[in-house]
Amino acid sequence: MADPVKGEFARRRTQLMRLMGSDSIAILPAAPPRQRNNDVEYNYRQDSDFYYLTGFNEPEAVAVLIPGRAVAEYVLFVRERNREREIWDGQRAGPAGVVKDYGADDAFPITDIDEILPGLLEKCSRVYYTMGLNQEFDQRVVGWVNTLRAQARSGAHPPQEFVALDHVLHDMRLFKSRGELSLMRRSGAIAAGAHVRAMRFCRPGRMEYEVMAELLHEFNRHGADISYHPIVGGGANSCVLHYRDNSARLNDGDLLLVDAGCEYDYYASDITRTYPVGGRFSSEQRAVYEVVLEAQRAAIAKVKPGNSWDQPHEAAVRAITQGLKRIGLLKGSLPGLIRSGAYKAFFMHRTGHWLGMDVHDVGDYKVGDEWRVFEPGMALTVEPGIYIAAGTRSVSRRFWNIGVRIEDDVVVTRSGCQVLTDDAPKEPDQIEALMAAA
Ligand code: GLY
Ligand code: MN
Ligand code: MN
Repeated sequence: MADPVKGEFARRRTQLMRLMGSDSIAILPAAPPRQRNNDVEYNYRQDSDFYYLTGFNEPEAVAVLIPGRAVAEYVLFVRERNREREIWDGQRAGPAGVVKDYGADDAFPITDIDEILPGLLEKCSRVYYTMGLNQEFDQRVVGWVNTLRAQARSGAHPPQEFVALDHVLHDMRLFKSRGELSLMRRSGAIAAGAHVRAMRFCRPGRMEYEVMAELLHEFNRHGADISYHPIVGGGANSCVLHYRDNSARLNDGDLLLVDAGCEYDYYASDITRTYPVGGRFSSEQRAVYEVVLEAQRAAIAKVKPGNSWDQPHEAAVRAITQGLKRIGLLKGSLPGLIRSGAYKAFFMHRTGHWLGMDVHDVGDYKVGDEWRVFEPGMALTVEPGIYIAAGTRSVSRRFWNIGVRIEDDVVVTRSGCQVLTDDAPKEPDQIEALMAAA
C-alpha cells in the first residue's frame, strides 16, 4: 500500500532538529504496552508523537535526536531480533532493520540503553523531553541525568536545562501536510460510509449494539479501527453526552444519536449523526434538528484563515439561542440570553476540538490569553448539539428525550475550509429518503 506520509518522517525529524538547535537532545519513548487483565494486553497502539517522528510501530523502543552530531543525529533503541519470540509475536525490525528501513543513522538493542544514553546526554546542555506521560520512563531519564551529575567532579557535563518537547512537537502536529490530509480524508470517508450503513440498518426493535456492530464492520473491512468507543444512544440515551453502554433496544418514535469515528493509518475521524429510529422525524424532533443544523452551518462558515478559535463556537451559540427562542424553549432577548448563558441548559459543551492522530488532537487553543487564529492545514471538528433530557423544567414533554448532535471534520484551507465527512447525509429530507429506501 502506498504510504503518503512515509517520506515525511525524515522531514519532520529535520524540522524538529532545526527548532531544537545544536547542543540539545530529544528523547522519546514508544508507548508502553497496556495490560487488559492477567497476561492479556490491549491491542498495541504506538504513541502518536513517537510515530509522528519515526513511523515505527513496535513497543520497547526509544528514539533519540541529537542535531548536529557528526556520527549519527537520529538514534533508535529497539528490541533485538529473536527467533523464539518472533514465532509467537511476529517479526521485529531489530537494530539493523531500523537503520535499513526506518532511516535511523545508528541503532542499538534497547537492553543497552542504560550504558549508551548517558554518553549521548553528556554532550548536550538542553534535553527535550515530555515529562509526566510515562512515569516509569521519567524516572529513567532522571536516573541518566543523575549518573552524569555524580560524575561531574570527574569532568562529566550533565545537561543544564529540560525543555517541554510536547510543546514544540504539538505545534508541528497541528498543521497537517497534504499527505496527512489525504489520510484524514480517507478516514473521514470510511467513517461516513459507516454512518450511512448504520442509518440503513436502523429500525425499531434493533439493539444499540447491533448498530455499533455495523459501524465496526465497516471500519474493519477498510483496514481501519475505532478512534474512540462509539456512542450509539436511542431515546433518553441520546441526551447522555458520554453514553457508552450501547445496550438498549431502539424504539419507534425515538431519535438515535450515533457518534463514531475511525482511525485509519494513525489518523482519526469523528462524526455524529442523529436520525429517527423509525425513519421519520416528528415535528418537534425536526424543529430541534434544524436548529442544530443551522448552528453547525453557521459555525462551519466561521472556519477560515484569520478567524479565531472561538468564532465558530460564538456563531453556534447565537444560532442555537435564536433557534431555541423560535421554537419556544427559551424566552427573552437574544443578547440577554446569550450573555446569561441560558443556552447552556441545552448546549453544554463546546463546538469542537483539534483533530488528527488523536481524536482530541494536540495543539494549543490559546496563545497567551488570545484564542488561536485559524491557518491553512489546521483540522478540527464542528459539533454543536441540543439535549433535552426527560424532566427538563419549563419544557413541554413533547420535547423530552430529544438529543441532537451533528458533527463533521473540517480542514482550514486558504480561502475557508473543506468538510472531510460530508458523504454522511445530514439534511433531514436526505436522511428520511435514505432510511425509506433501506
Ligand atoms: N467523540 C468524541 C467527541 O466528539 O469529541
Ligand atoms: Mn468530537
Ligand atoms: Mn464525536
